[in-house]
Amino acid sequence: MRILITEFMDERAVAQLRAKHDVLYDPLLVDDAPRLAAEARGADALIVRNRTQVRGALLAALARCTVVGRLGVGLDNIDVPGCAARGMQVIPASGANAQAVAEYVVASAMLLLRGAYGASAAVAAGQWPRNALSNGREIAGKTLGLVGFGSIGQLTGALARALGMKVLAFDTMMNADDPAFTRVGARFAALDDLVAASDVISLHVPLVDSTRGLFGAGRLQAMKPGAVLINTARGGIVDEVALAAALRSGALGGAAIDVFGAEPLPASPHFDACPNLLLTPHVAGLTAEANERVSYLIAAKVIEALA
Ligand SMILES: NC(=O)c1ccc[n+]([C@@H]2O[C@H](COP(=O)([O-])OP(=O)(O)OC[C@H]3O[C@@H](n4cnc5c(N)ncnc54)[C@H](O)[C@@H]3O)[C@@H](O)[C@H]2O)c1
Repeated sequence: MRILITEFMDERAVAQLRAKHDVLYDPLLVDDAPRLAAEARGADALIVRNRTQVRGALLAALARCTVVGRLGVGLDNIDVPGCAARGMQVIPASGANAQAVAEYVVASAMLLLRGAYGASAAVAAGQWPRNALSNGREIAGKTLGLVGFGSIGQLTGALARALGMKVLAFDTMMNADDPAFTRVGARFAALDDLVAASDVISLHVPLVDSTRGLFGAGRLQAMKPGAVLINTARGGIVDEVALAAALRSGALGGAAIDVFGAEPLPASPHFDACPNLLLTPHVAGLTAEANERVSYLIAAKVIEALA
C-alpha cells in the first residue's frame, strides 16, 4: 500500500514502513500544496507532524486513505470529525514526547525563578552583576499549577514533586478523586483557585473552543504577583500581547513560550524588551529521544492499521 509522509520522520522508522509498503517520504511536501494534493490521491495512509493541515482540499484529495498518523500529540491541524466521516482513523503519538515536554517545563521553571542565567555577556565583559543576581528564587516549596492533567501534565507534576514542589492540577475531564492525583502527589484545584495560588503555571490542554483565549488579560492579572507562566500547549490559549504587557509591568515574574498563535512567529515587537522571557520555536516536544519514540510508535501503528 502507498504511504505518504509529508514532514520530518526518523529515517529508521521510515525504513520499517518501506520494508512492508510503498513509501513516499518527503519532509518538504508540506510546503508544496499542489504536489501534496496530487500525491494525496494515491495514498492509503498519510503521516504528518503539526504543519500539514489535514482538512478542506487535502482531506477531499485523500480519497483512498484509511489512516492518518500524527507524529506528535495535538490534533488541531487535523479535521478529526471530517476524517471520521470519511472512515479515516487518526492516530496520535500519545505519551511519546511527554518526557521531552515535561523536562522543558521543569528546566524553564528553574531558569525563570532563579533568573541568573542571562548574564554571560556581562560576566565575560568584566562586569560582576553579583548583587543584581543574588535574589533568585528556588523551586523547592513553590506551587506548580498544571492546567490539563493528561500525559504531559502528570509527568511534569511527578518531576516537580521530585524537586520538592507542591502541585495543583485542573482538568475538565477529571474528578478530584481520580487516582492520577494520588499517584503524582498532586491536589485537584478549580481553575481560579489554581491561578491565584501558583508560583508557576504550566499549560497542558489541547487547543479547542473551550481553551482558546483561556489565559487572556483577565486571567493573567489574576495570577500571583511575580508568578511565572509556561506555555508548551498551543498558541491561541495565551494572549501574547497581554502576556508581554504583564511581563513589562512586572506583574508577572517570567514566561517561557514555545507555541504561538501564528507559527512560524512573525517579527513580534510586543515581545521586545520583555524581562525574563524565554521564547522557543515549538521544540518542547522535540528531542533526539522523543523523535525516535514518536516515529517508531507511529510506524508500528500505521503498519498495524494497514494490515
Ligand atoms: N510544544 C510541543 O512541542 C508539544 C508537544 C506535545 C504536546 N503539545 C501540546 O500539549 C497538549 C497536551 O498534551 P498531552 O499529551 O498531555 O495530551 P492529553 O490528551 O494526554 O492531555 C490533555 C488533557 O487536557 C484536558 N483538557 C481538555 N480540555 C480542557 C480544559 N478546557 N481545561 C482543562 N483541561 C482540559 C483533557 O481532559 C486531558 O486530560 C497537546 O494537546 C498538544 O497541543 C505540545
